[in-house]
Amino acid sequence: MIKIAVLGYGTVGSGVVEVIEKNKDMVNKKSGEELEVKYILDLLDFPDDPYGDRVVHDFGLILADDDVKIVCETMGGVGKAYEFTRAALSAGKSVCTSNKELVAAHGPELLALAKEHNCNYLFEASVGGGIPIIRPLNYSLTAERIEAITGILNGTTNYILSKMEYEGADYDDVLKAAQDKGYAERNPEADVEGHDACRKIAILSSLMTGKNVDCRKIYTEGITKVEPRDFEYAKQMGMSIKLLAISKDAEGKTLAMVSPFLIDGDHPLHMVNGVFNAVFVRGNMLGDSMYYGRGAGKLPTASAVVSDVIDCARHIGKVIMCFWDSEEAELLSIDQSQRRFFFRVKTEGEDKARTLFGEGIQEVRLPGVTKECGFITPVMTEAAFADSYGKLDGMTVGGRLRLEA
Ligand code: NDP
Ligand code: HSE
Repeated sequence: MIKIAVLGYGTVGSGVVEVIEKNKDMVNKKSGEELEVKYILDLLDFPDDPYGDRVVHDFGLILADDDVKIVCETMGGVGKAYEFTRAALSAGKSVCTSNKELVAAHGPELLALAKEHNCNYLFEASVGGGIPIIRPLNYSLTAERIEAITGILNGTTNYILSKMEYEGADYDDVLKAAQDKGYAERNPEADVEGHDACRKIAILSSLMTGKNVDCRKIYTEGITKVEPRDFEYAKQMGMSIKLLAISKDAEGKTLAMVSPFLIDGDHPLHMVNGVFNAVFVRGNMLGDSMYYGRGAGKLPTASAVVSDVIDCARHIGKVIMCFWDSEEAELLSIDQSQRRFFFRVKTEGEDKARTLFGEGIQEVRLPGVTKECGFITPVMTEAAFADSYGKLDGMTVGGRLRLEA
């Protein structure tokens, strides 16, 4: 029998216990051994919970128990979670986590520590909730040179954007609903300002390059400046607005960024709505493949954590390879990356916009709206766009949006 400890009995942690108990037969069969949750570490007691008798408050108990071979870290953050993960790995206990903040900040170090102590640090649930994406990148696409990854990697923001787009819902109301459903981070700023998606694309970029992509260096913009009027223009153009996380091989460097994008109706990510996430991967041999599923929420995320638990159970005393070195990957500044842009101007700025952006500019008008007009630029660099857009100071309305090809 393999004993397990779950650190943090919140949304994901309680889901992990539920998945292990509800799918016991299947989980045990696939693990090749019986698994049992022996400890649940949390700050609170849960006297009315069916597993309340397993709750402890002292991590030392778990660390000292040689029967505990696998620890699920579902606490979040980079404080105690980092300390406990290091201690567990140093004691030869494998750790499975949904904590992308910790994986993005200390991934290579924790992987090296696991290797040193003949155990594993697995993090399938850290990107895309329940979607299998870490394992495909680590095991299945190993013959590929990955050229690009484009993902909708945050369930909360995709839920908000979809509700605003299709139901005209109010931003604050939908954010509250996402929090109530357990999708949002403890501080939802991490979701809506793009930091969560940034951590996730940092993890995927690191697996793509085999080097460490530092999330603090990734250009990141959230959804807080997207306005209801932007959705009207998007609809008029047959487009949708999505928070995309992008990583591309750019002549030996990596271009990584997070930003809201306008995407065409025929883009593969266009139909990804609500809490669903998707990761679109381009390999140099396979071509395109896409991974789709629920990007947040208790049971989908817990299912991914438990898939790692099973992998650890199958590999007790053996290290599962993961190519993620501590060497820093070189990032390309987004200034020279090229794309089209959408922006809105007041009527008095229309002529100036045409002059600044030249003949290739396309006009977008909303029926019945006379005081402003939208424009789509030709393909240009970020730097050139910023320069011309800045010259429209005082004549623009709202923000600007990027277009994904
Ligand atoms: P919750 O806040 O619901 O759960 C975290 C739990 O850990 C809480 O019960 C908390 O207790 C407990 N905890 C915090 N610090 C300690 C500590 N020092 N010792 C013991 N217990 C502690 O968060 P989630 O379950 O939503 O998220 C957990 C992790 O999973 C995060 O890293 C998150 O980013 C990630 N994740 C979440 C997903 C989701 O859909 N919710 C999906 C994918 C990943 P208390 O509440 O008393 O502070
Ligand atoms: N807050 C995250 C999201 C949880 O909404 O995607 C899943 O990582």
